[in-house]
Amino acid sequence: MTSLLGAPRLKTVRNLATPSKHLPIYQHKHNLIQAVKNSTFLVVTGETGSGKTTQLPQYLHEAGFCKKGNIGITQPRRVAAITVAQRVAQEMQCTLGREVGYQVRFDDCTSQDTVVKYMTDGCLLREILADPGLSQYSVVILDEVHERSLNTDILLGLLKKLFSSPAKASKGRSRPLKVVVMSATLETDKLSAFLGNCPVFTIPGRTFPVTCMFGTAVGPKDTESTGKCPQLLTSETLTLTKFSEIERACDLLFEKAEAIDYRYDVQDQTVEGLLILPLYGSMPTDQQRQIFQPPPPGIRKCVVATNIAATSLTINGIKYIIDSGFVKQLNHNSRVGMDILEVVPISKSEAQQRAGRAGRTSAGKCFRIYTKEFWEKCMPEYTVPEIQRTSLTAVVLTLKCLGIHDVIRFPYLDSPEERFILEALKQLFQFDAIDRRGRVTQLGELMVEFPLHPGLTRAVLKAASLSCQDMLLPVAAMLSVENIFIRPGHPDKQKEADKIHRALAAKSGGMNDFATLLTVFQLCKSSDRPSEWCRQNWIHWRALKSAFSVETQLREILLRLQQVQQDFPVETFDGNKGELFRQCLCTGYFTNVARRSVGKVFCTMDGHGSMVQIHPSSSLFDQEAELNWVIFHDVLVTSRVYIRTVCPIRYDWVKDLLPKLHEVDVYELSSVAREEVTDEEMMKWETREAAKRQPVSAEDVMK
Ligand code: CDP
Ligand code: MG
Repeated sequence: MTSLLGAPRLKTVRNLATPSKHLPIYQHKHNLIQAVKNSTFLVVTGETGSGKTTQLPQYLHEAGFCKKGNIGITQPRRVAAITVAQRVAQEMQCTLGREVGYQVRFDDCTSQDTVVKYMTDGCLLREILADPGLSQYSVVILDEVHERSLNTDILLGLLKKLFSSPAKASKGRSRPLKVVVMSATLETDKLSAFLGNCPVFTIPGRTFPVTCMFGTAVGPKDTESTGKCPQLLTSETLTLTKFSEIERACDLLFEKAEAIDYRYDVQDQTVEGLLILPLYGSMPTDQQRQIFQPPPPGIRKCVVATNIAATSLTINGIKYIIDSGFVKQLNHNSRVGMDILEVVPISKSEAQQRAGRAGRTSAGKCFRIYTKEFWEKCMPEYTVPEIQRTSLTAVVLTLKCLGIHDVIRFPYLDSPEERFILEALKQLFQFDAIDRRGRVTQLGELMVEFPLHPGLTRAVLKAASLSCQDMLLPVAAMLSVENIFIRPGHPDKQKEADKIHRALAAKSGGMNDFATLLTVFQLCKSSDRPSEWCRQNWIHWRALKSAFSVETQLREILLRLQQVQQDFPVETFDGNKGELFRQCLCTGYFTNVARRSVGKVFCTMDGHGSMVQIHPSSSLFDQEAELNWVIFHDVLVTSRVYIRTVCPIRYDWVKDLLPKLHEVDVYELSSVAREEVTDEEMMKWETREAAKRQPVSAEDVMK
């Protein structure tokens, strides 16, 4: 949504308002190129906005680094990879996808000609799987390392390890690989020490003072108070936690802004209008581009953003910041034993980053809409690196597939807790991705090819072996994109949307949220006017469009694997289609099984025994009958613990799988995590395990 008051709607104008020669990095061009040439690892640091991300790859391109390989630049966020590639393509005056391109999960905009490639850190990790020496690159730049995303941390360790065996590092290349690690000013000494005391290149920044003010309100639902802010603004950024809040804050701002008389002076300029722009990860790229364009004279720009605007993207001319003090973060919740999206207070260092955005071009102000007391008592000093707070299952499988057996003594910049690693190993074992010795199984090697959660991949592979992938691939795709169901804010409209969504669920039997996803996918796909169909059914058309593309890509991966893998598993099944579908889901979701306890309360069977309830958005929400066992896709923690995307199952289907949840002993796995287990040890262990297993019947598990 873009609201523009008191002025005509903006036309897209090509904006190269800040000539790159004026960026702080420009003066250091020559020395930087030299520094990259002189050492294997180089840490580059400088204030955000100094030109690291957009300029350094261009300098290296100019200096001939692309003659013998490509330049790859990683970003923790998709939006950053895409918008930066757009900008650089524009600056280099080429078509995006030719010399300059980008690749993010499920969206590859590169070609044979691409020599400067922006990508997410997850994409480079996948490339390493296929080509551990990264032979097609002459330079790899890990960007935004201070964000400490899980994949960037793993890449750091892998690159460090690669150079610990020089033969591997130089294999198949005529010129040695160069690694540049870029970070905002935090922790550069630590990075340099980690990378063998490599040189640190500091780009002196120009920043202006920012005055910070605290507020009186606290709370993640403070969208309301941000709505009160237009009086304050000339050009500013708000930081909220998620896109629905962003859209809502934009609406509120629009309403309030309309009520204000704009003809008053702000710094000697008569301000006539307010250009309100949302900015969040999943928004369409053409809208994102607008963010960087300067507002027309006399119009103030107001960007309402998630934390993406804190460091990844620099918007010029921001003078005021309004900081909500919260962030939405994926955290491993040991209470329910899984990763959960939570709204949590940001760290003080993140708050400083947010404030710093107001001081790039002149002195600025930051309005913190939380109290000083909240700052002192509730906000941690630093953000905990992702590796120490999320599930490591996918990453550990990647490491294992790269032949890294000892996943505990892998060179981590900050080690995750051992129990997190063990939990990942346990999950991989439960999904048959590794064996008891911690070695990757044939199935594990297939699983690593899919950019999905291992459980979902497991279900897809099961379906493929039973030739019913047409049911599972769309579901996997639908679960990989943002929520497809629109729930409008207005109560009447909400009722209408809920009614339509219930009708869609009924079309698929009304008792299985996964089947509803499949139905929506199929109905929309077969519709003559899919976008219109979505509008009528309160379905997010853009999300569905990405689901179509994701499904095609998953199908391609599967086809390729079936072609190359001679002994791709094949099984048979006799039963009806609905049962087949749910049984495939069970293979991937048996770790998420819950059994009815009392009334509406279910108890999970994974050893945590959490008490959960079905979320109101589920079509099973008020179904009483026949609902003793369910599987679910994820968990939402509010005042209650809710399970979402639910499907009823029969105990029979998971009976043989459930003991798996209990039979692995994490302590046994801890030796698997460290060293190769000898045959003798293995025998001893298996005998012991067999003895332990005997008394465990499925009924025991149910107790
Ligand atoms: O990486 P670093 O934070 O040091 O700076 P950068 O991202 O390379 O940004 C340099 C300049 O390019 C800033 O003034 C940005 O506002 C501008 N830029 C832009 O106008 N459009 C983009 N898509 C990306 C950057
Ligand atoms: Mg940058």
